[in-house]
Amino acid sequence: MAARIDEAAGDYEIDGIGPFDLGRIARLHRRCFDDAWSRSDLAQLMALPGGFGLIARTQGFNRLGIDTRRVVGFGLCRVVRDESELLSIGIGPEARQQGLGRRMLRACMTHCGGLGAVRMFLEVAIDNDAARALYDGEGFVAVGRREGYYRRGDGERVAAVTMRKDLQSS
Ligand SMILES: CC(C)(COP(=O)(O)OP(=O)(O)OC[C@H]1O[C@@H](n2cnc3c(N)ncnc32)[C@H](O)[C@@H]1OP(=O)(O)O)[C@@H](O)C(=O)NCCC(=O)NCCS
Repeated sequence: MAARIDEAAGDYEIDGIGPFDLGRIARLHRRCFDDAWSRSDLAQLMALPGGFGLIARTQGFNRLGIDTRRVVGFGLCRVVRDESELLSIGIGPEARQQGLGRRMLRACMTHCGGLGAVRMFLEVAIDNDAARALYDGEGFVAVGRREGYYRRGDGERVAAVTMRKDLQSS
């Protein structure tokens, strides 16, 4: 499902993922995570009831009017009744630490709230300092821990922290 969000600010715009974006998101996912999700993994997630994704692109067309936008971020979510889950979020290394991850997370929360969710859950690797700082700063609180939840490229297993945020308080 394509989300009805079209938010432009600064050099990036955030919009709903369309069917033609899945290959681009899969390539970016591979640059963000050891445990990459393929195009068909993404298609299955997006086909789940309540599944949706947002994409961040650079803005711009060249002098010939050709679309030169690049995909620099994504957020993938699922809403089931009044609960939502942030399934994955990633910003390309070249676009990090410019506020885009926070904007993407907030856009995901706004969209989930618009679909009726009153809270959001997510999992984050215990050693993912950047993501944990982002979630802490946005008011997520730790509510659990899953041992060995993630597998690194070298095979090492890493625990996940489960976090929750009440969306009404955003
Ligand atoms: C986590 C991630 C999405 C953050 O994206 P970003 O665009 O760099 O984040 P922002 O610039 O919006 O920063 C927002 C906050 O995140 C935290 N943060 C971002 N990068 C950080 C870093 N390298 N070290 C520590 N904190 C960091 C800070 O609290 C920051 O707030 P501040 O700028 O006020 O200090 C990005 O690093 C990423 O895609 N990582 C790889 C994929 C991943 O780990 N996803 C999360 C899975 S749970």
